Amino acid sequence: MSAVETQKRYHVTTFGCQMNEHDSERMKGMLESLGYAPAEVADDADLILFNTCSIRESADSRFIAHLGHAKRMKRERPGVVVGVGGCWAQSVKDEIFERFPFVDVAFGPGQINRLAEFLTSDSLSAQGYFEFEGFPAHLPTKRDRAFQAWVQIAVGCNLKCSYCIVPSTRGRESSRPFEQLLDEVRALAADGVREITLLGQNVNAYGRDLRTDEPLPDVLLPYATAAKRPTSVGQAGRPRTFAELLLAVAAVPGIERIRYTSPHPKDIREDVVAVHAEVPEVCQHIHLPLQAGSSRVLKRMRRTYDKQRYLDRVAMIRERCPDIAITTDIIVGFPGETEEEFEETLEVVDAVAFDGAFTFVFSPRRGTEAAEMVDEFLPHPVKVARMERLVERVQHHARERTRRFVGRTLDVLIEGPSRTDPSKLRGRTTHNKVVNFTGIGQPGETVPVEITDATSQTLSGEMSLLSALRV
Ligand code: SAH
Ligand code: SF4
Ligand code: F3S
Repeated sequence: MSAVETQKRYHVTTFGCQMNEHDSERMKGMLESLGYAPAEVADDADLILFNTCSIRESADSRFIAHLGHAKRMKRERPGVVVGVGGCWAQSVKDEIFERFPFVDVAFGPGQINRLAEFLTSDSLSAQGYFEFEGFPAHLPTKRDRAFQAWVQIAVGCNLKCSYCIVPSTRGRESSRPFEQLLDEVRALAADGVREITLLGQNVNAYGRDLRTDEPLPDVLLPYATAAKRPTSVGQAGRPRTFAELLLAVAAVPGIERIRYTSPHPKDIREDVVAVHAEVPEVCQHIHLPLQAGSSRVLKRMRRTYDKQRYLDRVAMIRERCPDIAITTDIIVGFPGETEEEFEETLEVVDAVAFDGAFTFVFSPRRGTEAAEMVDEFLPHPVKVARMERLVERVQHHARERTRRFVGRTLDVLIEGPSRTDPSKLRGRTTHNKVVNFTGIGQPGETVPVEITDATSQTLSGEMSLLSALRV
């Protein structure tokens, strides 16, 4: 048999958020460095991996259905190794081996490197790895997209939103060293990356746990609290800030766009907004998760801001960045949510007029505070009816907001062919709006596009004549 035929093959199925997508890129990079090759479908793989999510019940059930398929494959080919990583694995830990005895290895989000240990050991018994160990920065990454990349700037979350499972699956907040991140961004830029998305559960809390003796960049001085000013630097130095990270990443040659997700409204401060206003590489989009419009519900959710503070933040953002897109996450049917409280969510949706929103029905998660509020759970039809009203309102505003682009010429970063019409190109504006357009160019290039039409989700247009002539 040739070496190619004996080479082991892997298949990874990813659920959940961009952090999981990025962890999967690292799993793939690590597996390829161990000599594994990718398999198109799980049926052809020797190693079948699932990178799981547990944010809502629907995420759990989608994954469990996939596990049934893995079980059948294992019965047919007992040599296959089945591995389960990510947040769901972390939330059930060793219980996974009792419930699903055909699983060989399970590991939490911070334990990708342990997968390599397992695969290179002689151990045949099921193994679980669930410690929190920080970010495995040394692992290679296999990116699917040539010119866009994720950079995980912090792991974990120190907040205690009462509905959320993430603090228990991703552990305590910890920022990666500033210089290590910049080295990573420089290497990505040298590799052709033009757009960076900084990732963290509470991304703008970045740097609070780091210390430096470097002075804060001059442009940020007007916004610095006393503790961050260089004059007050003690022996231990000052904390790093998210705003200075944005500035430093923007200064890396080759990086044209910077996005980040997700910020917490309490930490979107003037310095970050000033960077959005003044630094062209930092995109004109902020995802600002609202969750609920009623201050009473926000309190029960332990969100640490109230309705007015949220609206004040939006006003501050709009004042400095009038054209910026603001999107959000909203949960309906939190335990005990009254009709009046729900209507306050609609009020905030009307007051802000979001460019877009992800809307979720409350889902009780094991081990969370809100899962204990059983007596106040709302009947399913009430939640569904509220969701319908909310979605209708959200879409109305998204349509209106998108329409403002018609007639304008916007820079569009080309991502590839349009998904609906292959004769067209597809790209994104700085506002994170998808544009399908006629024109010429390669993925990764930025071209001016005249916007001719809009739906609530996407824009359509034509590449500007002037630039077509230049090509
Ligand atoms: N760290 C991010 C959120 C990550 S989870 C932040 O704080 O913004 C993404 C979204 O899932 C949340 O914003 C919330 O709207 C939703 N979500 C989280 N837990 C949920 C639950 N138990 N039920 C319904 N939606 C939930
Ligand atoms: Fe969950 Fe809240 Fe942390 Fe976001 S900020 S990950 S919603 S606990
Ligand atoms: Fe899901 Fe974990 Fe992300 S629960 S949303 S994969 S942080």
